[in-house]
Amino acid sequence: MNPSKKILITGGAGFIGSHVVRLFVNKYPNYHIYNLDALTYAGNLENLSDIQDYPNYTFLKGNICDVLFLSKLFDTAEFDGVIHLAAESHVDRSIANPGAFIETNILGTVNLLNAARNQWKNNLEGKRFYHISTDEVYGSLGNEGYFTETTAYDPRSPYSASKAGSDHLVRAYHHTFNLPVVITNCSNNYGPNQFPEKLIPLIINNIKTNKALPVYGQGLNVRDWLYVEDHAAAIDTVFHNGTVGQTYNIGGNNEWKNIDLVKKMCSIMDVKLGRQIGESEKLISYVTDRAGHDLRYAIDSSKIQNELGWRPSLDFEQGLEKTIDWYLANESWMQKILSGEYERYYDQMYRNR
Ligand code: NAD
Ligand code: TYD
Repeated sequence: MNPSKKILITGGAGFIGSHVVRLFVNKYPNYHIYNLDALTYAGNLENLSDIQDYPNYTFLKGNICDVLFLSKLFDTAEFDGVIHLAAESHVDRSIANPGAFIETNILGTVNLLNAARNQWKNNLEGKRFYHISTDEVYGSLGNEGYFTETTAYDPRSPYSASKAGSDHLVRAYHHTFNLPVVITNCSNNYGPNQFPEKLIPLIINNIKTNKALPVYGQGLNVRDWLYVEDHAAAIDTVFHNGTVGQTYNIGGNNEWKNIDLVKKMCSIMDVKLGRQIGESEKLISYVTDRAGHDLRYAIDSSKIQNELGWRPSLDFEQGLEKTIDWYLANESWMQKILSGEYERYYDQMYRNR
């Protein structure tokens, strides 16, 4: 059967990408989904073991920094759409090693834009280049207010600066070359398969293994948390119904101070692990703050809600329970990561904090 659409998803072996790939492969059996991923430390094909043999799915190992690889790939397959998630994604790593973020997030995105432009130049009808970005490009809020699509960019970490750079380039390719692009900027995601360098899975694992729970500074920084499957559903909506050239903000309307979130996780896990209430909280350890730590992110997602009808489906209590249950039930997934080079990263990151 000839697929009705061929879609290239980059970064599909990572956290959010794997949920997007799974959603598209299951929901659109008449599409063919190509997952292009370099399998960096964050890429894990186990995240997609349930769909790896589906006839409408193909995994392609490759690096978006490799121009020759991309040009050969776009020569052999005529893609109708690109959904671009591949990135270096962790703020702390961007502070330790900014170069990798410039290479993948900025240069890699330009390479992908060029490959799509070269392939589509004569035939833009029905084509779409969808760039997945973050609310962190807008900078940091005080106690009041929300990021909207017209908030001025003010990135403050090497990670958010590299994502801002890639957003600007995607828009520039639309204005200069008429490339049919769409961009979304999303708040913090959580859920199954998130690499344990990020706050929620790190805290789950440390509570479970009775390790210190590192809270940066005083734990007063605020993040707006969205369940990853709700983000994947938003990506599906925007890919199919978003207007070319537009940006949509995606958020959970679900703000938490880090310390309150960590305490909430402690109390849920006390019950699940059969501990005395209050026992896990004793593991909390206030550590040296992240350099340049943004105080607060909060998204106004009324544009995507009003124009495209998307809204978050899961409340945070349910999402957090589901996430904790997944990590407790999938110990071998975590063990493989912990037995690799991540252990060294963790030691370096937290030993002298
Ligand atoms: P992740 O780190 O879990 O996954 C990134 C994936 O990209 C990995 O599979 C990795 O192997 C792949 N990759 C990295 N460099 C590559 C390269 N040069 N070539 C090909 N593949 C490469 O990241 P995530 O949390 O799933 O984030 C996915 C996207 O969503 C990123 O663009 C990120 O900026 C954005 N985003 C993330 C969040 C969040 O809370 N995690 C929020 C908003 C936006
Ligand atoms: P993180 O998951 O790294 O996402 P981001 O920096 O992209 O928002 O961190 C979420 C929040 O938790 C952020 O304010 C930093 C804080 N944090 C800690 O307090 N301790 C930790 O060990 C980590 C990883 C993060």
